[in-house]
Formats: sequence, structure tokens, C-alpha cells
Amino acid sequence: MNVYKFPKNFKWGSATSSHQIEGDNRNDWSEWETSKLRVESLKLKGLDPKDFISGKACDSYNRYEEDFDIAKKLNQNIHRFSIEWSRIEPEDDRFDEKEMQHYVNIVKALRDRGIEPMITLWHFTNPIWFAEKGGFLNVNSPEYFTRYVKYVVNNLKDQVGLWITFNEATTVYGGFAYLKGLWPPQHKNIFEWKRVNKNIVRSHTEAYKEIKKIYNQSSPAIHESSKAESQRFLEVTEVEPLYNKVMSHNVEVGLVESNTYSVGGNNFYERIVERIYNYYRNLYSWTKAFPYYDFLGLNYYHVDRRIPGSFISLPKQEMDPEMNWEIYPKGIYYVLKQLTRFKRPIYITENGTADVKDLTREKFIKDHLYWIHKAIQNGVDIRGYLYWSLLDNFEWAHGYKPKFGLVEVDFNNFERHIRPSALEYAKICLTNQLEID
Ligand code: BGC
Repeated sequence: MNVYKFPKNFKWGSATSSHQIEGDNRNDWSEWETSKLRVESLKLKGLDPKDFISGKACDSYNRYEEDFDIAKKLNQNIHRFSIEWSRIEPEDDRFDEKEMQHYVNIVKALRDRGIEPMITLWHFTNPIWFAEKGGFLNVNSPEYFTRYVKYVVNNLKDQVGLWITFNEATTVYGGFAYLKGLWPPQHKNIFEWKRVNKNIVRSHTEAYKEIKKIYNQSSPAIHESSKAESQRFLEVTEVEPLYNKVMSHNVEVGLVESNTYSVGGNNFYERIVERIYNYYRNLYSWTKAFPYYDFLGLNYYHVDRRIPGSFISLPKQEMDPEMNWEIYPKGIYYVLKQLTRFKRPIYITENGTADVKDLTREKFIKDHLYWIHKAIQNGVDIRGYLYWSLLDNFEWAHGYKPKFGLVEVDFNNFERHIRPSALEYAKICLTNQLEID
């Protein structure tokens, strides 16, 4: 038996996003899911449009306490979730206090269970009014986004120390929504794609500065007391409740992107193509937004063989049981090493597999953790691992078919059932170590 110990204070948890779990959202995605164009195109493929409508999702808007009880039972001490902009600001410049209070309650529910909240401010969905203004094509999008961020952060600054501005905005969203036409608003225009990516980076940078400003305005007295608090916090390894005034001077604001593993071609031409591809696919926003982030959030799932001629030396790997993805755990090691150029700590903010039978999930997690551990040993500063996802949920354009959850959700009655692999992951979370035979 080999034992791989993780650093003291390493965080263990799981992640979700608002549109995928809450239910009853009204945003540009919910509009698209029920649009004639979308419904007809699914029917043409012989699919039932009902399976591609988020609807009630996991009903986590009402069941979040039950979800967090499970996360606690699974020994998790960090939880990443997202705030739904369309709930907070349903109309241009009209903020909804009740909805804000809902997220304050969510944070409290996590803290009551000794779980550190990590909040994503944008995870693929936009308020309808913002989408009607062109979304991130709009030159003023950074101001709209920052206004929303300011409202949210002002309401949560005493309870939250870890913020993420955008989830995979340039590495996934930009390409799917503006280049490939697969996600709303289904555009296929390289100039728009470039504009959206640029505006997202601007939005991130402005939001980052705004968040830092808000926390710096906290009184020095709070700073001093929370310094001691945060020191104590850093020493806590087992789950215990933490209340209020968390690290207000120590706020960390990160930017999450997904990276695929992609390595060089076989000749000069292919290597140039690979470098350009790697830059736009993996490194663009972190390069452009530098130095305005305190940590990198890495989502890693699979290998990418789209570069002509590349990977000839890499044999075909096992496929994800439900997504058309080639799984390559060692790839996370290479990706992590590549990210050290940005000189920031890293959280693995997503890593997971869709496996309804739960036959491969335990191995998937352990194999990736093995390479993450290796990266730590080789000097990469990694602070935590968050499995995607806590729950089976609405998997965007794929609808409800793929099952990523540690916890199975019965979408007829919303009952939750913990999968066996979740219990194996819970042992790792509890002991802060990986054991492999
Ligand atoms: C996204 C999640 C998604 C997951 C699995 C990531 O790209 O952030 O929202 O469910 O991958 O596809």
C-alpha cells in the first residue's frame, strides 16, 4: 500500500453551479432551452426536448441544507457554488434583496457546517436584459458586470474570503457561444469571439480591482482581529464551524479556466499550430489578466486531440463513460506544471467523470490525485481539490443524461443517494491522504 500525504491545510470539496442545480432560473439559457429553434433542432435529432430543459434542476434552491449535510457527512471542508446574476439583478439596475438574502443564507449554512464557501460570480448564464444588450459583446459589459459584483460582494464580504469572477469564460463559453454556435446566442463569428474574450478579461480585471477595494475599506480593527482569525483558520485541518469575519484582509480573488492537455506536433508547422492553440485554448485569459488574480482555478477533464498530427506518441486512452472525452490523468500533471509560469497558487476547482454506474469514478479520482500529489512534490503550489460535481445535474447542451455526481439525484422526487465512490473520496478528505494498493 502506497500512502501519499497532502499538505497540511489542503482543502477537499466539490463544486456546483447555480443554473445546473437550483431550478426555476430565468436567464438567457432558460430562454434558449425552450426556444423554437432549440426544440426543433432536438426533435430533428430524434431527441426529447424535455430532457434538455433545466426546469427544476436538482431543486437545490430549496434543498441546499440537505446538500450541505451530505457534503459535511462526506468530510468536505470547502464548497464551490455560483451566484445566479439573473436572480440578483433581474432587471437592469434593479437588485433583489430577497434573492441576495438567499445567498447570504447559503453561505451561513455552509459555515454552520464548517465548510468554507468559494463563490463563483458567473458560470455561463446571463440575465435576459444583459443578453439583450449583447452580453459580453457590449463594450460596457465590464461596467454592468462590476456593478453586480460590487452589490454581491458588499453583502458577503464579512463571510467570504474566496471569490471567483468567471468560470471557463474564454476557454469554453466564448468558443461554444460565439465560435461554434453550440450555446446561446449560437453565433459563429471569429471577430465576435475575440471581442467577447477581450470584454470578459476587462470585466474580470475591473471586478478584481473592485473586490480588492471593498475589502481594503474594512476597518483596520477588523483587519487585525481577522488576521489572528485567519491564522487560526489556516491551522484548522478538521471540519469545525467558522463564523463571520473571515480573512477580510486576506480576500483571494481567482479566475477559473478549463485546460485540456495538448502537446506539440511532429514538425515545425504543427508545433506552431499547437502553440497558438494552447495559448487560446488554455492560457489566454490568465495571460491577459495578469497580474490581477490571486489564484488560478483549474478545471481539468481530458486530452484534446484536435491539433493535426499531435499525440502520435500518446496511445488512445480510456473514454469517459458518458462524455466523448479521452481521460488522461497524467495530463493534469503537465497542465499544472505549465501553469507555474503565472506564479500563483492553484485550486483544482473542477475534475470529474460522468459515470452513472459509478464503476470508474473512484479510480478516476485516485488517478488524478496521484498526479496532483506528484505536482505538489515537484513544487507546484496547490491548495485544494474540488470534485465536479457534488450532485448529478443539468449538463448544459447535453441535458440531464451525463451523471457527474458524487451523489445521485432522482429527478422524479429529488431524492439524493450517495454513490459508493463518494464514500471512498470521503476517506481521502478525512485523512488528507491518498492510499493506493
Ligand atoms: C463546467 C461545468 C460542467 C462540467 C462538465 C465544466 O466545463 O464548468 O459547468 O458541468 O465542465 O462538463
